[in-house]
Amino acid sequence: MPFTAERLLLFGATGDLAQRMLLPSLCALDADGLLAPELRIVGTARSVMDDEEFRAFARAALDRHLPEDRRGALDRFLPRLSYQPLDATTLEGYADLATKLGTPQAGLAIFLSTAPSLFEPTIAGLQQAGLTGDRVRIGLEKPLGSDLASSCAINDAVGAAFSEDRIFRIDHYLGKETVQNLLALRFANILFEPIWNARHIDHVQITVAETVGLEGRVAFYDEAGALRDMVQNHMLQLLALVAMEPPTSFDATAVRDEKVKVLRALRPVRAEDVVTGQYRAGAIGGQAVPGYDEELARPSSTETFVALRAGVANWRWNGVPFYLRTGKRLPERVTEIVVQFRAIPYSIFGDRGAQAQPNRLVIGIQPEENIRLSLMAKQPGLDRDGIRLRTVPLDIAIPDAFTGTHRRIAYERLLLDLVEGDQTLFVRRDEVEAQWAWIDAIRAMWTDAQLAPRPYTAGSWGPSAAIALAERHGVSWHDE
Ligand code: BG6
Repeated sequence: MPFTAERLLLFGATGDLAQRMLLPSLCALDADGLLAPELRIVGTARSVMDDEEFRAFARAALDRHLPEDRRGALDRFLPRLSYQPLDATTLEGYADLATKLGTPQAGLAIFLSTAPSLFEPTIAGLQQAGLTGDRVRIGLEKPLGSDLASSCAINDAVGAAFSEDRIFRIDHYLGKETVQNLLALRFANILFEPIWNARHIDHVQITVAETVGLEGRVAFYDEAGALRDMVQNHMLQLLALVAMEPPTSFDATAVRDEKVKVLRALRPVRAEDVVTGQYRAGAIGGQAVPGYDEELARPSSTETFVALRAGVANWRWNGVPFYLRTGKRLPERVTEIVVQFRAIPYSIFGDRGAQAQPNRLVIGIQPEENIRLSLMAKQPGLDRDGIRLRTVPLDIAIPDAFTGTHRRIAYERLLLDLVEGDQTLFVRRDEVEAQWAWIDAIRAMWTDAQLAPRPYTAGSWGPSAAIALAERHGVSWHDE
């Protein structure tokens, strides 16, 4: 039964995500009048604080992380907040939490932004306190396990207390406006879909490059590495949105049904189709930065970069490589999808036709939100030696096309959907498990092949072997 929750319970309310994203998103939604007047937000974490102290904590976080022009509702927002300290690992304390939340029939949305090791004890505590009934839904922040087995264990534990239609697995990339725009681009235009297949597409590149390093997440990151931190979730979701068949409607079942088919059709990756790396000291934007092992203060075999050549085994995509690349301490922060079309089948321009470059569609997800289609055009002139061709970009800068609308934090959309109960932008159990199955096979292959990350200088585009990985197949990474 769809319902709009009147209570939102945030686990991990004093954590980094809450400060940087969750509280700012909620306050921004309030400023736009998108939170029901009766919505109350209860934070919980281990720290001992009372309501007033939590409000002061939240105010400080908002001062740091929410632009001033979006803090308009601060005086309405802060009184919505209250706080209940809790040691999530023991069952004591959940009864007090339930009392703090008040009437359960009001509808409760829970958001777990805690270490995955706390998921199971938290579910047990919620269950014991009667906080898992039909009018309760739960949002789970990544990482959802570290392999298929641990992910299944979490899914089983959550699934024992909540039905799948009340479980909201977050992949914050799906909350990004530009990621959703991929669906609009593909399925609200007639132009692309007829040529969106192996006949017309040579390859696809997906890059998620970051300039940041460990950012104080030493223990977590060194356990995870780039493949599990970025590819397993965000990059595979991007790939699924690019590759999926048209869903019959924009709803949770139809969209996720199509995504999971793609995820299940991912080809196993061969050892020669993957390169991993780890950054060494270098410079980014003129600033010297230490190497990964220096930040960690010990050597490690964790990859901070991964590039791979994937494929989707189905009629639409057979033979089309999907090159994926992500890393920390790369020269710039950029997330983009490049769809490289094939060359024209025949040139009417004779030799000069050789100048006709294949069309390319570049979808900029961040920081630039734009869509650029490269087209061939005739260079102005009298053409006495024949027509000259040149590539010209057809550029759609999304912020320019939609001036006056502000950029939303991905979590604004996701938190609102959690409160209102729309699962379209959340990841279903079968998707997560298909993602893990594919990632586990890659990791098993690494172990067999004894693959070790190659060093790369911070501020470069990763190990040179990553360039070779694409160039071996006549492909250059799009690094402009
Ligand atoms: C998170 C990863 O899921 O995504 C981080 O754990 C990464 O390592 C982050 O930095 C990137 O998100 P965004 O929205 O900044 O691209």
